Amino acid sequence: MKKWIVFCAAAIFFLSGCDRETDETVKSIKIGVTLYDQYDTFISEMMASFTEYVSELEEETGIAINIEVMDASGSQSSQNDQVQNLIEKGCDVICVNLVDRTEPTTITDLGEKNNIPIVFFNRELVEEDLERWDQLYYVGADAFESGIMEGEIAADAFLNDANADKNGDGICQYVVLEGEAGHQDSIVRTEYSINTIMEQGVQAEKLGYAIANWNRAQAQTKMTSMLTQYGDAIELVLANNDDMALGAIDALKAENIDRDDWPIIVGIDGTDVGLEAVQNGEMVGTVYNDKEGQAYQMLLLAYALATNGDFDDVQLQDGKYVRMPYEKVTAETVEEFLEKE
Ligand code: GAL
Repeated sequence: MKKWIVFCAAAIFFLSGCDRETDETVKSIKIGVTLYDQYDTFISEMMASFTEYVSELEEETGIAINIEVMDASGSQSSQNDQVQNLIEKGCDVICVNLVDRTEPTTITDLGEKNNIPIVFFNRELVEEDLERWDQLYYVGADAFESGIMEGEIAADAFLNDANADKNGDGICQYVVLEGEAGHQDSIVRTEYSINTIMEQGVQAEKLGYAIANWNRAQAQTKMTSMLTQYGDAIELVLANNDDMALGAIDALKAENIDRDDWPIIVGIDGTDVGLEAVQNGEMVGTVYNDKEGQAYQMLLLAYALATNGDFDDVQLQDGKYVRMPYEKVTAETVEEFLEKE
């Protein structure tokens, strides 16, 4: 519901136009974007929203917004070169989806030396690194919130489904499919989801875990070997994102495991395919990672920085952070999220 209010407000705002305060001499701006991996499902869906919002903002303001998007393909040194390149191409602001969240220094120094603000997004650097210069920002979400919601969905499903406790021992045996090692969303989501399950009164026992780098095919491979190892003992699959939850489902299907014998599967993101899997019941739920809200806020922030405009519509916290809230998605609520696609 809250998301709909934000969404409708944004729509009304775009349709009605507004007196956005900007430097009046500005006729066009250039925003550079570099992605850690353009084939990541969540990132590509977020960028599709970003591009749509760019056209709408151009129409609203009459200012040409040129976008240059680059893919670092998992290499931090390529990304550093791309930022240099984007600066040379005359970008007014650069949005960086860091490859290695512990290595922002080269990019930060380039921004500062050339006086080009940097908006980091999705892959959160540590606070001290963001404090190194006053023109550094971060757009994303609070990872712990998604972990708590995933844990609540899983606990709820386990407690309310008579068949969930397959061996009837009163304990939830689970496996975890984790994103990248060292990524804030992997570490925090895993920790908070498990703690929440136990806080909800479910006794839980970890059978195993595997790192699958947010990737569906890798998750299928890892799930296949966990099925070989633990077989029918797995009662719950906690995946750090939807693509990996879908990889687990691919493994169950490939192994011809009877639908009634599937473990409970929960993801995070609410990607198009993730939502479909909740709708058709293959996943018991997911947690919506607000790609529209993050894309919209990132654009408004970049626009304000590039035009010396005001920050009135940017939901800045502590002058540096934008964090959009997550939302739970289950079979009861999935339709409202599907309508957003
Ligand atoms: C997470 C998202 C993952 C993946 C990752 C990349 O927030 O849930 O699916 O996109 O970011 O950094």
